[in-house]
Formats: sequence, structure tokens, C-alpha cells
Amino acid sequence: MYIVRRRAWELSERFVTPEHLAMNRRALLAGVGATAILPSVGRADVTTNPAYTPGRAITEEKYATTYNNYYEFGESKNIWRDAQNLKTQPWSIQFDGLVARPRTIGLDDLLKQVQQEERIYRHRCVETWAMTVPWTGFPLSALVKLADPLASAKYVVFQTAQDKSMDGLNAPFYPWPYIEGVTIQEAANDLGFIATGLYGKPLPKQNGAPLRLTLPWKYGFKSAKAIVKVSFTEKRPATFWESIGPSEYGFWANVNPAVPHPRWSQATERLLGSDERIPTQLFNGYAEQVAGLYSGQTNEKLFM
Ligand code: MTE
Repeated sequence: MYIVRRRAWELSERFVTPEHLAMNRRALLAGVGATAILPSVGRADVTTNPAYTPGRAITEEKYATTYNNYYEFGESKNIWRDAQNLKTQPWSIQFDGLVARPRTIGLDDLLKQVQQEERIYRHRCVETWAMTVPWTGFPLSALVKLADPLASAKYVVFQTAQDKSMDGLNAPFYPWPYIEGVTIQEAANDLGFIATGLYGKPLPKQNGAPLRLTLPWKYGFKSAKAIVKVSFTEKRPATFWESIGPSEYGFWANVNPAVPHPRWSQATERLLGSDERIPTQLFNGYAEQVAGLYSGQTNEKLFM
């Protein structure tokens, strides 16, 4: 991102064919079972939420799982093999800061307390590549509810894993750990999602297993992978990419085709697996759901 090696992908404006979701449901349930994390959640309850249809074809799985951004494993897009070295079981999440009861919760325990569903979302990287993928997971608002923040909390801050398997952490330039954050109002929006699966299977490590934030109306760098800590603060956090390049990767990072990145246009995007460029949409096409979050915020750089 800071480094100019951005690619773009695009995809034609075909309608999604969700048949594979039905086909994959069995795989999803089997896969989730294999991780032994959902025994009491009721696996048959994982349903595709029809409210989230992306209006374009689903990206082929092989592209979404082999072309990744995960700087902890290096700057290359080709980190998927290295990412397999991350141990994702056992896993726990720490809730701290302005919460009623700071605590650490095991992933299995957490997943027993949320309702899993499947959503097909568009994803738009700030580098101008994009994809459309079916995530399994649960609403971000459910995670916030579990954490039980105090009324004084204004921001939700996500910190991601730092593990010995991650060679990229040795790069001195980057301000590790990877931190991202949203306002408490953004976190309450129904689109915010915590992904635990992809294409009807457990979330691949390269895509952020075991828990990854998904904020489809924002540039992809906001969607932090491998979350280990969720903090609630009064003060806006210094996020990873904003610390590196504040004029290029702002805190808000809402997708807007009319606001160029200082070094490239954001008007179009390239879908993974294709050379075709398609127009980028305001809020990545989710304006109806999220534009209201930003009304009146005239002094903020909301779109970069
Ligand atoms: N999360 C962590 N921990 N480290 C990262 O480098 N990259 C971000 C985001 N989450 C990143 C991260 C960026 S720039 C993008 S575009 C998406 O992950 C890419 O997600 P994908 O590889 O699953 O497509």
C-alpha cells in the first residue's frame, strides 16, 4: 500500500448465482465441525442472508485465496502458503478498555454465543482490486454486545495477531501490531461483520483465520485479519496504515470513486480473475446502508 505495487481486478456486471452456497453448505458445516468450535451453535442454523446480494458474480475461490494482502507475512500478494504456519487453535480474544468487565474469551466460547450466517459482500482494496465473496460469520454488533462496552466508549479498536510464523513482522518499517478501528456507531451498523468462514468453509489462514473483520463499504485495509484484541476507547486510535501514510490511508477510508488516492485514481476497479475494469461505487455500493453514518461530518476526510 505504501509501496506502489498495486494491482487491480475487475469483474463484469453479472448477477450472482448463489447455487454454490447451497452446494457448499454441507462443506461449511463439516468444515466448521472439524474445527470443533460450533458444537452448540446449531450448525443447521447457518443460513445465507438474502439481504446481502452483491449484484455481480462471485469471484472464483482460487483467486480470493491466493492473492492476498497480509503484511505480517510479507509485502507480496503470494503469502498463502506461508500463512499456513499460523497456529489458529486454540485462539482467544481479549476485550479491554472501556468495557464493563475486561476479560479474555476463548474462540469456542465466543462462537457459542453468536448466530452464524452467510453474506455475500463486495470487497474493494484501496489498491483498486476487488472481489465478491461469500463470508460466513456473525454481525460485528454481536461482538460489541458480548464485549459489553461502557457508555463512554466512542471507538472500537481491533488488534491483530503477532506470531513467530509471521516473517513480515521483522520488517522494521512497519508500526506493528496491525491496528484498525471504527466508531461505535459504525460498529453498530448491520453491514459490519466478523468473518469465520469463506466459500462455505472455515476461513483460510491467508484470509484472516480464525476471526477477521469485514467492512464492505470501506477500503479493504480496514478489514483486520486474525483479531486477538478488541478494545473500547474514548480516543480515536492511531491505526496501522494511517500511521504509515496519513494522506493516503485515512482513518475513515470509505470507498469513493470521486476521491483519488494521492497516487492513483479510485474511479474504477479490477475484479480478481479478470482484466475488465468496472466503475467503483460510492461506499462500494452500500451507500443506502451506511451514508447516514457520516451526515454532518463535514470536517473529516471520510473518503481516503
Ligand atoms: N489484516 C492484517 N492483519 N494484515 C494485513 O496486512 N491487509 C488488509 C486487510 N486486512 C491486512 C489485513 C488489506 S490491505 C486488504 S485489501 C485485505 O485485508 C485483504 O483481504 P484478503 O487477502 O482476504 O483479500
